[in-house]
Amino acid sequence: MIKIDTAKCNKDYMCINQCPYGFMYEKDDEGFPVIKSSLFEKYCIKCWHCIAICPKGAISHPGVKQENFEQIKSNDLPSHYQTEKFIRSRRSFRSFKKKSVPDDVISKWLDFTRWSPTASNSQQISWIIVKKAAKVAHFADIMVDWLKEKRSYPEIIEHCEQGHDILLRSAPHLLIAVLPKDYFWAMTDAATAISYLELTANSLGLAICWAGYFTKAASESPALINALNLTKNEKIAAALMFGYPVYRFNRIPERKELSVRYL
Ligand SMILES: Cc1cc2nc3c(=O)[nH]c(=O)nc-3n(C[C@H](O)[C@H](O)[C@H](O)COP(=O)(O)O)c2cc1C
Repeated sequence: MIKIDTAKCNKDYMCINQCPYGFMYEKDDEGFPVIKSSLFEKYCIKCWHCIAICPKGAISHPGVKQENFEQIKSNDLPSHYQTEKFIRSRRSFRSFKKKSVPDDVISKWLDFTRWSPTASNSQQISWIIVKKAAKVAHFADIMVDWLKEKRSYPEIIEHCEQGHDILLRSAPHLLIAVLPKDYFWAMTDAATAISYLELTANSLGLAICWAGYFTKAASESPALINALNLTKNEKIAAALMFGYPVYRFNRIPERKELSVRYL
């Protein structure tokens, strides 16, 4: 249960205003915020924004180590110019070196996803990392069989059978987001986390590309579903090929104009 230290609280009510369910709070006779215990269990999503936003450090929870809440320093944050260059320079890569990415680099990279938003802060994504290039190639073969059964994309099948892996780009690794089958926001949470990985890959020298065909195959191909060894309550929500890039981009490609309407 959240505790509010009245010796520190300055009654600015930032905690109430930032709380996704501010109605969990009431004010005592002196105007200090108090959590209604009857609603806490039902509504608190453990985002800990109340603790993070309080300028006085007046809020605590026995399960939360406040000393782990890193101070935000505005000088550490990129400027608009840097953000623009950074965002526009992100690219999908389709040629990977035949070189494995060390486990510690993968862990460091995946750690970024812990800060991606999830619906109701539910943080339900778990990851499968396919580390062996031979296994990625095996999945690509299963995907070719899947396309053959569907009688779809004959040109892709032909190209793959000529030794050009258009589906998984002969990537050394595959990263797969696994989520509960019945979770409404599975695809959204996975895509958001994957975006974090796309944006941060370059900072570790990595190259990525969405594996869209793989995600589709993983929802349709019994052979692939079987090979992934999922439980009956799990589904694949998104996947990325990754490794080290063979090439670097020199230019940022043109994009469509924004389509926006203001109401
Ligand atoms: C949901 C999704 C699925 C995708 N699937 C594939 C894929 O299977 N193979 C591929 O080569 N690129 C795939 N892409 C990459 C897009 O083609 C790419 O993002 C787009 O061409 C823009 O290029 P950029 O990412 O370099 O800006 C996918 C992208 C998204 C968002």
